[in-house]
Amino acid sequence: EVTKDRNGVQQVLLRNSRGASVTVSLHGGQVLSWKNDRGEELLFTSTKATFKPPHAVRGGIPICFPQFGNGGSLEQHGFARNKIWVIDDNPPPLHPNDSNGKSYIDLLLKPSEDDLKIWPHCFEFRLRVSLTADGNLTMISRIRNVNCKPFSFSIAYHTYFLLSDISEVRVEGLETLDYLDNLCQKQRFTEQGDALTFESEVDRVYLNSKDVIAVFDHERKRTFVLRKEGLPDVVVWNPWEKKSKSMLDFGDEEYKRMLCVDGAAIEKPITLKPGEEWTGRLELSVVPSS
Ligand code: BG6
Repeated sequence: EVTKDRNGVQQVLLRNSRGASVTVSLHGGQVLSWKNDRGEELLFTSTKATFKPPHAVRGGIPICFPQFGNGGSLEQHGFARNKIWVIDDNPPPLHPNDSNGKSYIDLLLKPSEDDLKIWPHCFEFRLRVSLTADGNLTMISRIRNVNCKPFSFSIAYHTYFLLSDISEVRVEGLETLDYLDNLCQKQRFTEQGDALTFESEVDRVYLNSKDVIAVFDHERKRTFVLRKEGLPDVVVWNPWEKKSKSMLDFGDEEYKRMLCVDGAAIEKPITLKPGEEWTGRLELSVVPSS
């Protein structure tokens, strides 16, 4: 189902037979909503979010591409999240498992003349967003070099999980990993053996994680499970009190009910030779926990 938001940007609503749903905007190819079969929202969106392009909406799942952060020549987190994507009616085939029993939409981003001036690399970025019969949200990115010289990129699915109380949240799967700390000039540290808990601002890139990460929301007795392929790194971000107040599109207290945990490829950018294609997959599911 395709509708338009108040700025005239197309949005696609995916539904499964049990009543779960996903909303994707063509602005940024950004998932704006993911609801379970009880109609409960699972992703955070700020009450102060602005829905006016070109700025990405504060919440959901903005895609950071071809740069993560502000360390390169491009705007923070790259331009893909600020662009209008198109519906791809005739995508090259994917593995049958990536289509069977799913409700999905294929989106496409190609660089404009202006994009090529700031990042002179011809690419095709195909994104398939799917909702499975079980209510899982999957995002498959295929990025192809259609240029005559190699290029490199970073990517992150900047996933804003909606949580009931950040002080009761635990993340498992990142223990003992090295991480780059954005709050300490990207210095490298090693995580200790315990699951992560939160009591202050966090802005890190965990390196080379295993492919399953769990985010436990104790209050709501709910666990989010991230399964990823081709995405070695994991961003963990919560702005906490002070930074929240400095962000215009984020409520002062909203840090208490969100956490970004992103499947990403950041530390070692991906290089594509002419004609080569890269695929990255992220699957999000939610299970009850005690
Ligand atoms: C994080 C960055 O991943 O994203 C933070 O490391 C940044 O520094 C945050 O504040 C949100 O970024 P943005 O551009 O959406 O405000």
